[in-house]
Amino acid sequence: MSTLITNIGELITNEAGTEPRRDAALVLDDGAVAWVGPAASAPAADEVVDADGRAMLPGFVDSHAHLVFAGERGAEFAARMAGLPYSAGGIRSTVAATRQASDAELLANLRRLAAEMLAQGITTFECKSGYGLTVEDEARSVELAAEATQEITYLGAHVVPPEFQGNTEGYVDLVCGPMLDACAPHAKWVDVFCERGAFSADEARAVLAAGRAAGLRPRIHANQLGYGPGIQVAVEFGAASADHCTFLSGADIDALASSSTVATLLPGVEFSTRQPYPDARRLIDAGVTVAIATDCNPGSSFTSSMSFCVALAVRDMHLTTAEAVRAATAGGAAALGRNDVGHLREGARADVIMLDAPSHSYLAYRPGVPLIAAVWRAGQLAADRRGPSA
Ligand code: NIG
Ligand code: FE
Repeated sequence: MSTLITNIGELITNEAGTEPRRDAALVLDDGAVAWVGPAASAPAADEVVDADGRAMLPGFVDSHAHLVFAGERGAEFAARMAGLPYSAGGIRSTVAATRQASDAELLANLRRLAAEMLAQGITTFECKSGYGLTVEDEARSVELAAEATQEITYLGAHVVPPEFQGNTEGYVDLVCGPMLDACAPHAKWVDVFCERGAFSADEARAVLAAGRAAGLRPRIHANQLGYGPGIQVAVEFGAASADHCTFLSGADIDALASSSTVATLLPGVEFSTRQPYPDARRLIDAGVTVAIATDCNPGSSFTSSMSFCVALAVRDMHLTTAEAVRAATAGGAAALGRNDVGHLREGARADVIMLDAPSHSYLAYRPGVPLIAAVWRAGQLAADRRGPSA
């Protein structure tokens, strides 16, 4: 069945070089965008939806999330807000809770978070393992993630678990050997937390090389807690994305600018760890492709709201409202190597957000207000909170 959405106040399609379209219409058919153009020349369709002047944009593409976990760390967050710093070690408390949890508990948490995301306009999301850190617990993490998304990332190299304390080499061997063998059939990506307190540049290289040899594509957690080699390793490996990028040297920016690696910025992390925000303007001005993602996880960023991340990117990272929306849609798609999502050109998957607002700028202009009025995923209405007379 085809759906004509007409009377759209502002339509963001992410076509190269185009401004948002005014008075536009969109036809969704068979799960794809079938036609885009001026409302006055729209073709007939089986069903007509009047957008009543509201803004529409592509569904958000969240290219960085950790949704397979148990427990929560609200007390750690409160302690941070009272002055304690964030450190990679907090991950281990989620590892302990995750190992204890049943598959059903992990799946229920994953489904709840995925539903939260969808209701808030995230129509594609990536999901990492990384809170199991045994062969069995990493394997079940990637298998459970497959219930919710195709964008599955093997992150056995998140931190060194307690039973391998003092034996990082032994743990890296496990990550590159039996754990990879168990996870690779269920994953698309391999990731490593390259940071002081987690894995060194050479350990990261070993993990990414082994993952690549097993058919996985590299991405990396880099330069979150301090300056370091993570960005250089990302570029060296042709990683689809280097994520966090909180501390960037001039050489890091140059390396990203002369590569196809996307810089994925995670402003929810800076918000909830009280770290400085990454220098997004320098990245954009240098020509780097920038994505914004939620990094939804129980430690450093427990938000499933891309709207909130867009607002932070605008207010605190100095992106324009249009740049922030592009980073949360086309940027996320680039970070996942996807051409079918993140835009609304003809042929795109029909993933569309309708805002309860006339312009995308309201995502930052009205922070904290639930502005996602309706969401279509692959052409199906997946969330709808339009009022009867809206
Ligand atoms: O992306 N940096 C490493 N991993 C997560 C944090 C996970 C946690 O604190 O539980 C991140 O911020
Ligand atoms: Fe992360």
